[in-house]
Amino acid sequence: MSTSLVVVGLGYVGVPMGVRATEAGLDVVGLDTNASVVDGLNAGHSHIDDVSDVVLGEALARGFHATTDPACIADADVVVVCVPTPLSEDGGPDLRPVVSAAGVIGEHVTPGTLVVLESTTYPGTTEEVFAPLVLADRWRIGDDVMIAFSPERIDPGNAVYGVRNTPKVVGGITPQCTEAARAFYAEFVDDVVATKGAKEAEMAKLLENTFRHVNIALVNEMVRFSNELDIDLWDAIDAAATKPFGYMAFRPGPGVGGHCIPVDPAYLSHRVRAKLGYAFRMVELAEEINTAAPLYVAHRLQEALNEAKLAVNGARVLLVGVTYKPDVSDLRQSPSTPLADRLALWGADVEYHDPRVPVWTRHPGDPSSRLESVPDLYAAAADADAVVLLQAHAEYDLQRLAAASRLLLDTRGVVADAPAVLRL
Ligand SMILES: NC(=O)c1ccc[n+]([C@@H]2O[C@H](COP(=O)([O-])OP(=O)(O)OC[C@H]3O[C@@H](n4cnc5c(N)ncnc54)[C@H](O)[C@@H]3O)[C@@H](O)[C@H]2O)c1
Repeated sequence: MSTSLVVVGLGYVGVPMGVRATEAGLDVVGLDTNASVVDGLNAGHSHIDDVSDVVLGEALARGFHATTDPACIADADVVVVCVPTPLSEDGGPDLRPVVSAAGVIGEHVTPGTLVVLESTTYPGTTEEVFAPLVLADRWRIGDDVMIAFSPERIDPGNAVYGVRNTPKVVGGITPQCTEAARAFYAEFVDDVVATKGAKEAEMAKLLENTFRHVNIALVNEMVRFSNELDIDLWDAIDAAATKPFGYMAFRPGPGVGGHCIPVDPAYLSHRVRAKLGYAFRMVELAEEINTAAPLYVAHRLQEALNEAKLAVNGARVLLVGVTYKPDVSDLRQSPSTPLADRLALWGADVEYHDPRVPVWTRHPGDPSSRLESVPDLYAAAADADAVVLLQAHAEYDLQRLAAASRLLLDTRGVVADAPAVLRL
């Protein structure tokens, strides 16, 4: 008998995970509160870049289906929760989707089920927040229901590492829960790594993303004085990266975006402050530097236009690639938004090009922030006073872009030297 799995939350994490599990022969149902997501998936339309309609169609043919009805939980051997964990208005953890999903599971779960939380969150959530709602004063941990945390490590747009070949960390509330989670993921993931407990698995994920956040902040701070000292930091990074041990290359850019890097470290610093009363200074400093990065881009552009005897006010500025990373369509927390806002505030005439974003509404609810991607990148670059390269999507011919532009500010350090090209 194949394992029956319910994946709760059908987004960037839940859909690839559910599809991969069907490939390994599991019997998978997707549960989401959003009826249009459910209907779209059942009709074979994938809203996730990394899962094509063809791959989704194959999963549907293997029996995958989506639903808004939580009754499916009662028949599951395993329930995996991949709901969002955003920040609240005050910058702290917003666990409402996790709390709501755990409550619904608690109403339907039956003995013998393994329930795994995959949503990124602060250490202690699985044990203190999630488990009591799932157990609902009815079931005992381990004897009736097994509960574990397993961080999702999906890297959207990564053609090499997917669900199967990215090692999976698992940590249960009891050793028995850890073992159940290890055995479950081993059915469809090549390498499963067990931690001492749920807290260590939660911390592992936050360590990974805090490490990225802090190292990106390091080079984003260094790029500022490197420019003033007339040093090409990208060249120095390439040189440092030739060291075969003890160094990992991170490169400057216009800031951090996506669901993870700008959000997850805040979960950890909030936990440290709330529980222990002191600051996680590394994270707070990294946040300050990376949040300021798009505004630094605006200042560099202002300087460059000034050099050309132009004001930002009235200048035609073309932003190229506005998603938070290359080769995805995800705009969440993209640094392009604060950059465009600042340039618009200074009176620039902002346009953009992105092959994956036909319409860009920076602030839903504010029609004046709605733009449409210019149809012809190279013609628009030739017409613009300045071009800012934010994401070097695979479709872009960077040499042609440089040749077409009067002034090209390259925030990624990927365009070859040319008279019009300026690095951050
Ligand atoms: N996107 C990534 O690259 C990535 C990578 C690693 C970890 N994560 C983490 O994984 C988790 C999920 O992220 P995502 O990017 O897949 O989110 P997402 O916004 O793409 O999708 C979440 C889905 O959950 C649904 N949902 C919300 N509340 C629900 C509920 N109570 N019950 C059922 N469904 C519900 C939403 O309708 C949505 O379809 C987050 O904690 C995130 O930090 C994301």
